[in-house]
Amino acid sequence: MFASSCAVTFVVLSLPGIRAQGIDYAQFVNPFIGSEGGIPGYAYGGGDVFVGGAVPFGMVKLGIDTYEEPVNQSALNGGWTPQGKVTGISMLHESGTGGGAKYGYPAQMPLASLEGVNLLDNLTYWQTREGDDVASVGYFRTRLASGVSVELSATRHAGLHHYSFPSEEQHVLVDFSHYLPHPTRSWDSQFYAGGEIEIQANGSVYTGYTSIGGGWNIGAPVTVYVCGEFDASPESAKTFSGKNTFPVSRHFRTTDNLTTPEPTFQDSSARSGPMNNRVGAIFSWNSTDDIRSRVGVSFISVSKACAYKNEELTWDIDKTVQAARAEWNRDVFSKIRVDTSDSANRTRLALLYSSLYFTHLIPSERIGENPLWESEEPSWDDFYTMWDLFRNQVSLWHLIQPKYYESMIRSLIDMFKNEGYLPDGRSGNYNGLVQGGSNADNVLADAYVKGLRGAINWTEGYAAVKKDAEVIPFFDENPVDSQGSLKEGRSALDDWIPLGYVSADRNTRAVSKTVEYSLNDFAVSQIAAGEEPGDQNIYLRRSAGWQLSWDPEATSRNFSGFVMPRYANGTFHKTYNITNCGDCNWADESYEGTAFEYSFVIPHDVETVIQLMGGPQHFEERLDYVFQPNTSGVDLGVNGLGITSINNVANEPDFGTPYLYNYLNKQWKSVQRSRQLVNDFYFNTSNGIPGNSDAGALNCWLIWQMLGLYPIVTTPVYLLESPWFDDVNITVNHNSTLRIRAEGRDDGDGRQGYYVQGVTINGQNWNKNWFEHEDAGGIMTAGGEISFQLGAEQKVWETGDAPPSPGHIDLGSA
Ligand SMILES: *[C@@H]1O[C@H](CO)[C@@H](O)[C@H](O)[C@H]1NC(C)=O
Ligand SMILES: *[C@@H]1O[C@H](CO)[C@@H](O)[C@H](O)[C@H]1NC(C)=O
Ligand SMILES: *[C@@H]1O[C@H](CO)[C@@H](O)[C@H](O)[C@H]1NC(C)=O
Ligand SMILES: *[C@@H]1O[C@H](CO)[C@@H](O)[C@H](O)[C@H]1NC(C)=O
Ligand SMILES: *[C@@H]1O[C@H](CO)[C@@H](O)[C@H](O)[C@H]1NC(C)=O
Ligand SMILES: *[C@@H]1O[C@H](CO)[C@@H](O)[C@H](O)[C@H]1NC(C)=O
Ligand SMILES: *[C@@H]1O[C@H](CO)[C@@H](O)[C@H](O)[C@H]1NC(C)=O
Ligand SMILES: *[C@@H]1O[C@H](CO)[C@@H](O)[C@H](O)[C@H]1NC(C)=O
Ligand SMILES: *[C@@H]1O[C@H](CO)[C@@H](O)[C@H](O)[C@H]1NC(C)=O
Ligand SMILES: *[C@@H]1O[C@H](CO)[C@@H](O)[C@H](O)[C@H]1NC(C)=O
Ligand SMILES: *[C@@H]1O[C@H](CO)[C@@H](O)[C@H](O)[C@H]1NC(C)=O
Ligand SMILES: *[C@@H]1O[C@H](CO)[C@@H](O)[C@H](O)[C@H]1NC(C)=O
Repeated sequence: MFASSCAVTFVVLSLPGIRAQGIDYAQFVNPFIGSEGGIPGYAYGGGDVFVGGAVPFGMVKLGIDTYEEPVNQSALNGGWTPQGKVTGISMLHESGTGGGAKYGYPAQMPLASLEGVNLLDNLTYWQTREGDDVASVGYFRTRLASGVSVELSATRHAGLHHYSFPSEEQHVLVDFSHYLPHPTRSWDSQFYAGGEIEIQANGSVYTGYTSIGGGWNIGAPVTVYVCGEFDASPESAKTFSGKNTFPVSRHFRTTDNLTTPEPTFQDSSARSGPMNNRVGAIFSWNSTDDIRSRVGVSFISVSKACAYKNEELTWDIDKTVQAARAEWNRDVFSKIRVDTSDSANRTRLALLYSSLYFTHLIPSERIGENPLWESEEPSWDDFYTMWDLFRNQVSLWHLIQPKYYESMIRSLIDMFKNEGYLPDGRSGNYNGLVQGGSNADNVLADAYVKGLRGAINWTEGYAAVKKDAEVIPFFDENPVDSQGSLKEGRSALDDWIPLGYVSADRNTRAVSKTVEYSLNDFAVSQIAAGEEPGDQNIYLRRSAGWQLSWDPEATSRNFSGFVMPRYANGTFHKTYNITNCGDCNWADESYEGTAFEYSFVIPHDVETVIQLMGGPQHFEERLDYVFQPNTSGVDLGVNGLGITSINNVANEPDFGTPYLYNYLNKQWKSVQRSRQLVNDFYFNTSNGIPGNSDAGALNCWLIWQMLGLYPIVTTPVYLLESPWFDDVNITVNHNSTLRIRAEGRDDGDGRQGYYVQGVTINGQNWNKNWFEHEDAGGIMTAGGEISFQLGAEQKVWETGDAPPSPGHIDLGSA
């Protein structure tokens, strides 16, 4: 049993039926990791994670929505907050995302009394919680101050609510106009665009739809069809409608809120109509029995939503939880098997299996649920975002989820075919936002170079990435960027193609876009190599564009040579602050990272970075420097709470930086740095990750760390680091086993017996600190064994070549 200071409990359910079929890894998962930030009791700066019932990549993620004050210390994105008042229980959620909240609909809310309640005024019925919330894989329980207990679980397209009321007075509000609000900002808040609700004959079934738009990517309204059912016929069931007084609704009608509206009740149906009214229903019972409700949702039709409800769910919450848990064990946790016996370190089990859990909540699988076009291809949503996922998460899915991953890639290519562009972010069936480059290019390239083929049409895959590289997207007029599209594609191709870099006067985020476009073009060249060989060199050359933005004279903290904002006329922004990117946001010269940081983020050509920084020794000194405490020149805010070094392990751009020592054949230093970062910032506690989990990107970084590997995305290379377990069996490529062993490991309780003394791969002595996907007879496809000899000596054990720089271009002589 695990309980934190802030009203949460993580339970170990005893489920003998599951244990009999194999190990119940789910017992080690702490679903609250990342649910709290640096300020105890508040979500701000935490992981923004979803806490509730879900299956792997499930379309439905059923959980409570809350409102926590003060709003500047909160974050409603995952629905759950440590102390927030419950405003509803809803079916669709993201996990780990920042920016304007998305989803939080359609909702129910159990009410123990209607006294003083205005169904259109959430302040009159919202509830604080009593005692500790309880969560485990596929299960959530809370107790409201009203005395109502709520238990939740979910299947792929449906959710089960189990309510226990304190007296025979029982009501459930169904609110089709509920969504997760954005209390501090309007431009990327969601808005209600109308709905319709109908109660069926015996009063226990309701159907209809709700449409909600906006949110982080300012998406078009999403229509969700709903089919809900209660297990007991209500005494009374009424629909209602009422004036829509939501403050934010640029595109749909709202009314002023000078008087609080009251609902108008109808017998069996209510629709929004031309005034865009809010609609819902209220069901009441007079009984001492528990009330259960099963709800299906669909983006296609009410009948599909009803079919999901009927086919996927019984009324039995224990069975639903067991089925969800069995699926997680079978399809996710058992893909990475470590010793779970009593002598195993429980903290490490929690970190590993919880991290696996958080890397499988989004994107959402929506096969058969694409309302936008007819296609034989699978459909996915909630890539939120590629900017986060491309760094190392897709490379893990490639290994352990080849089926799901192939399906995702096919869906991405289908989006390009039908909408014109791959997404960099996508949610609510709508592309956006693009933070820098077109990073789906990196995802496709990573899959391609590692040989993922299956039913993917790579002719079309190549056409998709080439479009990103060549065709500027139309301007979407997002209010935070007056210079280019944030919806999709690369808005700064108007600089990138003619100049070779993104200029700081004609475009926003010049530094980070230049760095990202460089890797994107390297990715395009990687796919071109197989699909359109004549194009390969064009994009390879373009991938050196970051060198054009390199100002050898730029100096900061005694180091010279940085990627800097450069103007279209060729001069550099000489007074640019290399250690401080200001707000580091959409309109700034660098996005969520300083020039100091981005100067290291060239994974395809580290060789040139080392040269430009003055050779290996200078490179190493600079690398050492960015990990020193109190060197950061920015307040990292939610993207790095508590971190004071220039290197910010809590945000994606710097994910690879601690591992760069491998390129100097000083792998022991990569091990030292990366271990230190985990020991300082990752814990099995509610505030146990240092920032937004970002769809699991931070959690995935931890998984690779624990496996002792790190992938170099867009290339088939994996760096060798230092595993946290003696023996790990990983199911790769559907049914092969990659075994990772560590001998001599002695790293608990502050001991440092984790430095590599030597490595063998499939029995061969391995003198390089890296290997490729198909090395040693197909280590990552056919499986095999990587064996580490560990010890306390900080040893330079690698005598072979340093990791490659396959995008190496010498612009001087080329
Ligand atoms: C939130 O605002 C309050 C004052 O309204 C202030 O005391 C507190 O420090 C702020 N919290 C954060 C995280 O900025
Ligand atoms: C209500 O009617 C539906 C079908 O019309 C039936 O499946 C369901 O069991 C009924 N519910 C109750 C509580 O009687
Ligand atoms: C409560 O309802 C109002 C509209 O009446 C809405 O603006 C607000 O966002 C809702 N609050 C929450 C936390 O859902
Ligand atoms: C009306 O909305 C404004 C802006 O969101 C808010 O400040 C005010 O408190 C609201 N008034 C009522 C009566 O809800
Ligand atoms: C609820 O049922 C009880 C027992 O049948 C009855 O005494 C009571 O009046 C009912 N209450 C309402 C509000 O109908
Ligand atoms: C890994 O697989 C090998 C071979 O089947 C087995 O002997 C070993 O016990 C397994 N280790 C773990 C931790 O599952
Ligand atoms: C792949 O897509 C291309 C372009 O749409 C098409 O011509 C080709 O037939 C497809 N290949 C397969 C195997 O379906
Ligand atoms: C830079 O170098 C000078 C001279 O060696 C030294 O005095 C100064 O402290 C250094 N500054 C930093 C930030 O390291
Ligand atoms: C180059 O452009 C920048 C930004 O517009 C301007 O400040 C600078 O004066 C220009 N320099 C030259 C030499 O034209
Ligand atoms: C850059 O910003 C940092 C942190 O705000 C500040 O301390 C430093 O003086 C600035 N440097 C320059 C050159 O403006
Ligand atoms: C392994 O999985 C692949 C892909 O699903 C399949 O083609 C192959 O037959 C499987 N091999 C075994 C031994 O199960
Ligand atoms: C268990 O692992 C944690 C996390 O790495 C570590 O802090 C702790 O010292 C380990 N415990 C033992 C007894 O080795």
